[in-house]
Amino acid sequence: MGTISCEVVGGKRRSGSVFTMVCSGPFGNESCSSADVLVGLDAAVKDGVDILSISLGGDSIPLDQDPIAIGSFAAASKGIFVSACAGNFGPNNFTLNNEAPWMLTVAASSVDRSFRVSVKLPSGKVIPGESLDQPSNFPKSSLPLYYSTESPTCDMDPLDDSHRGSIWVYEAGGRHNVVAFAKSHGAKALIFIFPKKVGATIILTKMDFPGVVLANKEGSDLISYLISASDPSTSIVFNGTVLGVSSAPAVAWFSSRGPSQATSGILKPDISGPGLNILAAWIPSDDTPEYKIQSGTSMAAPHLSGVAALLKAVHPTWSPASIRSAIMTTADADVSDELLESALYFAKGAGHVNPSKAADPGLIYDITDDDYVSYICGKFGEEGARNIARRVVNCSKSMMEEELNYPSILLAPKGGAAAKVTRIVTNVGLARSSYTVSVTISKTVVSATVTPHMLTFNELNEQKSFTVSAEWSAGGPPTSGNQFVEGKLTWTSNDGKYVVTSPFVISAL
Ligand SMILES: *[C@@H]1O[C@H](CO)[C@@H](O)[C@H](O)[C@H]1NC(C)=O
Ligand SMILES: *[C@@H]1O[C@H](CO)[C@@H](O)[C@H](O)[C@H]1NC(C)=O
Ligand SMILES: *[C@@H]1O[C@H](CO)[C@@H](O)[C@H](O)[C@H]1NC(C)=O
Repeated sequence: MGTISCEVVGGKRRSGSVFTMVCSGPFGNESCSSADVLVGLDAAVKDGVDILSISLGGDSIPLDQDPIAIGSFAAASKGIFVSACAGNFGPNNFTLNNEAPWMLTVAASSVDRSFRVSVKLPSGKVIPGESLDQPSNFPKSSLPLYYSTESPTCDMDPLDDSHRGSIWVYEAGGRHNVVAFAKSHGAKALIFIFPKKVGATIILTKMDFPGVVLANKEGSDLISYLISASDPSTSIVFNGTVLGVSSAPAVAWFSSRGPSQATSGILKPDISGPGLNILAAWIPSDDTPEYKIQSGTSMAAPHLSGVAALLKAVHPTWSPASIRSAIMTTADADVSDELLESALYFAKGAGHVNPSKAADPGLIYDITDDDYVSYICGKFGEEGARNIARRVVNCSKSMMEEELNYPSILLAPKGGAAAKVTRIVTNVGLARSSYTVSVTISKTVVSATVTPHMLTFNELNEQKSFTVSAEWSAGGPPTSGNQFVEGKLTWTSNDGKYVVTSPFVISAL
C-alpha cells in the first residue's frame, strides 16, 4: 500500500508516533506495508491505549482491504476512540481517505492566529502577509521593490546587480530555490504571492531569510501598485504573532474532500480542526529543533484526539461513537473554505470542533458494536465482514449504510420514492426534558419530514427514536451542477439550552 503521512510541507515528511511504529525507509520516502500498519494498530490496542490518533493515509480503498480500517475496527470494538486524518488531496472532490464509520475523519482548517508581516506602501496602505521569519533588525525604511513578470524563474542569470538591496516580489514557485537565488543576488527580502487557487491557505515554512507570504488577493494589491508606480518601494514591518484573525476557521486548500468513495452512504469527513501552521513536536535533527510549524490533516487529527481525551475524562462511560456524536452535533458550522466562501459539509464535516460545547451535548447518537457488524454485513456480506472483523460474524442482521445511527444523515431518494431512516438519540442532558425538531433544507428541491416532531425524556440515558424521510420535490433531483443538497436537522431542548445539530444531505447520485 502506498501510504504516506497526512502532512504537507516543503517536500519533507515526518512521522507521528503511530507512523514511527509502522513505517520505515528514508526520510520523505517512507514505505508502510499493510501488514506493518495492521501490526502497529494491534500492538497499540494490546498496549491498552484509550485513543488512537492516526496521521497516516493514502488513497481511498475499500474498507475490507484497508489495514487502517481493519485495525481500527478492532480498536473501536474495544472502546478505543480513533481519530484519523482526512488526507491532503484536496480541494478536489472524492479525495478522502480514512473513511470508516468507526473512526472520526478529520479535515484541516485554519486558526485565528497570524505570524503577521505588514507590507506598507508609500500611500500608507498596509497589505497583511505572514512569515515564520521575524527578524528584529530589519530596516524600517522604505526599500525599492523589484518585480519581474518573468519571475519566478531562477535561470534568469545573468542578472545585473541593480536589484541588490531591493525587496524582490515573486509569484509562487518553489520557495527554497528562490531564496537561495535572491540571497546570492543581494535581495534584502522576498515577497511571495501565492496562487489564486489556494486562496487563503498560506502554508508557512521557515526560510531563514526575511521572506513574506501574501495570499493572492493581498498579492494583487501589491502587483497593482507595482505596475502603476514608476519607482516602486515599500517598507516591511514584522509584527510577530497576531490573534483574532477574522477569516478563521477556513478549511485548508489541501484538506481532502468528500463524498466518500468507500462509504457513500455516510457523510464524510466528520469534523474539521486546526491543521494549518500548527506548532508540532518534531524529531530533532541538525537543522530542525524539537518543535516546528507544520500543516496538514495530520496536524488536525491529533487536535481531535486531544478533544476526545478531554471528553473521555468528563464522560468515562461514553462509547467512541457517543464522543464523536458530541463533537459533531455541537460543532461550529460557520466555516469557510479556502476561497473564503461558505464551506460544504464535504469540506468541513459538521464544522469546526467546539470542545466546551461537546462536553455537554444534550443528546447523543450512539452506535454499538453490533450495529457496526450489521453495517459491514450489509455492505460486504459475511465474507467481507469477516475480513474486517477478523473473526466469524453472524450476519443474520444487516443494514444499509445510511441506516447506521450516525450523527449526520445522507439520503439518496431514487425516482419518486422517499428514502427513510430511523435514528435513536440518548438523553445525556437533563433527566426531564423535551426536544423539538427543525429541518432546514431547500423545500423547492427536497421534501423532508421527521416523525415525531417532539421527543420527551423522563430520565438520563433514556433512548427515543425518530424517523427521517426525504424525497425530491415536484421538480425532481438537480440534473446539473451540485448533485448534493445540503441542509440540517436540529433538535432543540424546550428550555433552549441544548441545540443538537446533524448535517443533512440529500444526494442525487
Ligand atoms: C466539488 O463538488 C461541489 C458540489 O458538491 C462543486 O460545487 C465543486 O465545484 C466541486 N469541486 C471541484 C474542485 O470540482
Ligand atoms: C504592525 O506593527 C506596526 C509598527 O509597530 C504597527 O503600526 C501596526 O499597527 C502593526 N500591525 C498589526 C496588524 O499588528
Ligand atoms: C445468528 O444469529 C441469529 C439471531 O441471533 C440466530 O438465530 C442464528 O442461529 C445465528 N446463526 C449462527 C450461525 O450462529
